[in-house]
Amino acid sequence: MKKIAVFNLRDFDEAEWFDQYSRELGLSLSTCPDAPDLDNIARVTAGCECVDIITSRITRELMEAFAKSGIRYLTTRTIGYDHIDLDAAKEFGIHVGNAPYGPDGVADYTVMLILMSLRKMKRILERTAIQDYTLQGLQGRELKCMTVGVIGTGRIGQTVIRSLSGFGCRILAYDLYEKEEVKEYASYVSLEQMWKEADIITLHTPLTAGNRHLINKETLSAMKDGVVLVNTARGGLIDSEALISGIESGKVGAAALDVVEKEFGLYYYDRKSDVLDNRELAVLRGFPNVTVSHHMAFYTDNYTRTVVRDSLHSCKLFMEGKENPWEVC
Ligand code: NAI
Repeated sequence: MKKIAVFNLRDFDEAEWFDQYSRELGLSLSTCPDAPDLDNIARVTAGCECVDIITSRITRELMEAFAKSGIRYLTTRTIGYDHIDLDAAKEFGIHVGNAPYGPDGVADYTVMLILMSLRKMKRILERTAIQDYTLQGLQGRELKCMTVGVIGTGRIGQTVIRSLSGFGCRILAYDLYEKEEVKEYASYVSLEQMWKEADIITLHTPLTAGNRHLINKETLSAMKDGVVLVNTARGGLIDSEALISGIESGKVGAAALDVVEKEFGLYYYDRKSDVLDNRELAVLRGFPNVTVSHHMAFYTDNYTRTVVRDSLHSCKLFMEGKENPWEVC
């Protein structure tokens, strides 16, 4: 029976699905609760051709170690794959696949973060926790009166747009490629126009070499005063230092960040007793108008079942030399 090496396997939610789908697909598993590193790769991947990971950084060094252990296919139980060094994958002859799941979980979460930001929910929850039931400083704003800018109108961006259309707000969109189906609900504009007119900006593009720090000092200065920024895409899209300055100056009225720069090694681990080397995150967390969550917009029951099933299925197709819809390069 073909064996798959699974890293970062979570007992509390993924194990039962790995068990079920590996049986259904006729695969055996070599599992590890930790991210791959130079100490565990040879042991966990022994006898495997395929490896199944989540969003831990896969550097050239790790890719080389995978190749030395005989790995030929690496699948990530995520949509984004910017955590994987694709050049190194090519160099060492390792194919890479992802496991896109339905966009609704992330889209719901995005709408929730928009509403939480407009209604100052972080402050409300902090006050009720200490029995402070005053109203001062908690006045919110109504989504219907807002212009929302959606950057990236792929699967998630489009779902966000459709959901937002029910609130009666004006919706602006930006993408490298315009999609006809979006035009029913939103108007495509240039980024310059979006910066000028949007009260809320939400990000839904992958992180690429071309859009790193898309939100930076210059673009922030072109935005409306009090703009609300929501990021459920990738931390690297926002220059954290520029965002901190924008919040301190009041340019940014609120931010909701499910993803941040340098989140690798922090998110999904219990680091409460540690001194962390991510000052920007510490500062951002401390602002009353910034909501931070640890990269979990995707995390629903549907997500877990789908990614486990599809990542194993893509390994099976790869090993059988069949057409594999999940292979990205
Ligand atoms: P998708 O591939 O369906 O859509 C991405 C869209 O972004 C496409 O329409 C593409 O044309 C556009 N795009 C690419 N580069 C661009 C640029 N420089 N400027 C403007 N538009 C650009 O991807 P999907 O499924 O909608 O996911 C979007 C992103 O959300 C993922 O790449 C991932 O980084 C992030 N994500 C975050 C999750 C979370 O839990 N917070 C979970 C899942 C995805």
